[in-house]
Amino acid sequence: MIRRLEELLKEALEELKAASTPDLVLQAKGKYVGRKGGIASFLKELGALPPEERKSAGEAINRVKAEIETGIDRLLDGFKSSDRDEKLKKERVDITLPGRRIVSGRLHPVTQVMDEIEDIFLGLGFDIAVGPEVEIDYYNFEALNFPSDHPARDMQDTFFVGGDVLLRTHTSSVQPRVMEASRPPLRVIAPGTVYRKDSDITHSPMFHQVEGFMVDSRITFSDLKGTLAHFLKSLFGPKTGVRFRPSFFPFTEPSAEVDIGCVICRGSGCRVCKGTGWLEILGAGMIHPNVFRAVKYDPESVTGFAFGLGVERIAMLKFGIDDLRLLFENDLRFLKQF
Ligand code: PHE
Repeated sequence: MIRRLEELLKEALEELKAASTPDLVLQAKGKYVGRKGGIASFLKELGALPPEERKSAGEAINRVKAEIETGIDRLLDGFKSSDRDEKLKKERVDITLPGRRIVSGRLHPVTQVMDEIEDIFLGLGFDIAVGPEVEIDYYNFEALNFPSDHPARDMQDTFFVGGDVLLRTHTSSVQPRVMEASRPPLRVIAPGTVYRKDSDITHSPMFHQVEGFMVDSRITFSDLKGTLAHFLKSLFGPKTGVRFRPSFFPFTEPSAEVDIGCVICRGSGCRVCKGTGWLEILGAGMIHPNVFRAVKYDPESVTGFAFGLGVERIAMLKFGIDDLRLLFENDLRFLKQF
């Protein structure tokens, strides 16, 4: 019996050696140490042995069984760990790869300048008001003292929608709207989009303005000068020169055009300021009594100033952009620079 046992062991170990998959190992397991396997049939023979042989035969069977089982376990462990190695290799994360950068968006230069302008005036206690871009003739022209034959009402400048309805040509339309709806004292800026039938290197049919006005019982031209000088020096730097030139707007009297010392050449004369050393930057003036009359304010008891500026022009000067159209093409290579 011991000899047959040794033969079984030899056969089992050879079969296991050749087993190349876990399935083949399990098959061998059944065949040798399973419930109906070789070892089991040896155990059955035990009963037929004379009692004095039983002990040593039983020990021999158990030893062979244990040896086969150890072999099986070792093989199965081996398969498991090579499985895991395979998996680890496949799922390996290459931590030396540079990470993907999260690209954050940025504000359009026009929006940036708009925000900066708003911040300066909020710091002076101004409120922000908005009005409709699709406007009626009354607020865009009539209430602002435009005579009915004024050239700005001409088809060439204004986009008419039909009847009295048009696209506002300036944010000054917000002035009578706010005044009509509230009483002085007023300190208001009105940022927004405006439209004019105009298109070339320096004009876009759609652009942005910021309107500003202050109305109270004793507002003077010095308040206008002081406010705008503070504003322009905050925006372009404390050394910026500011000058007022007489001008004309139907809704202000007196009216002025405001220049700043050229930010490109600092006054010595260049292409941008056409050799003058100055850049026209905004329109302003004392609110015309007829505007007050239109909104039922008494021009004898209130005075006020107003100004309006083009945001694109200021953005171009601040950032040194020389073609207005760049601001509207939305070329990311351009926009990413700001
Ligand atoms: N509305 C004028 C324009 O569009 C600017 C302006 C506003 C002038 C307020 C004076 C006072 O050019």
